[in-house]
Amino acid sequence: MAIDKQELMDFILDHYENPRNSGTISDADKVQNSVCQNGGNPGCGDIVTICLNVENGIVKDIKFEGEGCIVSQAGTSIISEKIIGKSIEDIIGMGPETMTDILGEELCLSRPKCATLGLQTVKLAINEMKRNELKEEAAK
Ligand code: FES
Repeated sequence: MAIDKQELMDFILDHYENPRNSGTISDADKVQNSVCQNGGNPGCGDIVTICLNVENGIVKDIKFEGEGCIVSQAGTSIISEKIIGKSIEDIIGMGPETMTDILGEELCLSRPKCATLGLQTVKLAINEMKRNELKEEAAK
């Protein structure tokens, strides 16, 4: 469904002002299959912290907090809705085009780092979770 520019701006602004899945997973490091990961764009200092809970390879919960530009924060909120119920393999396979499909080419080409901050941080979180699993395996 094609949406016009105004609708897209309203959609982005709504996610910025009313972020979905806002918050944190408390004591994520003590909850099995949970992780919290920071991500940021060094150039501007904008940050997000994303917490994931994964069960049997499927994202069951995601929470995030962050500070930064509208595109980065709205993009993180949008991606948080998109990945619940998805397998971590599917998420790792999501490229920047995932954000382009949602936010439009114009925005993503002009501000690629802002648009993909959430998605990149989700992927970092998944990799961190995998590393933790390997460490736990090795410690057994
Ligand atoms: Fe920093 Fe957008 S300007 S993430």
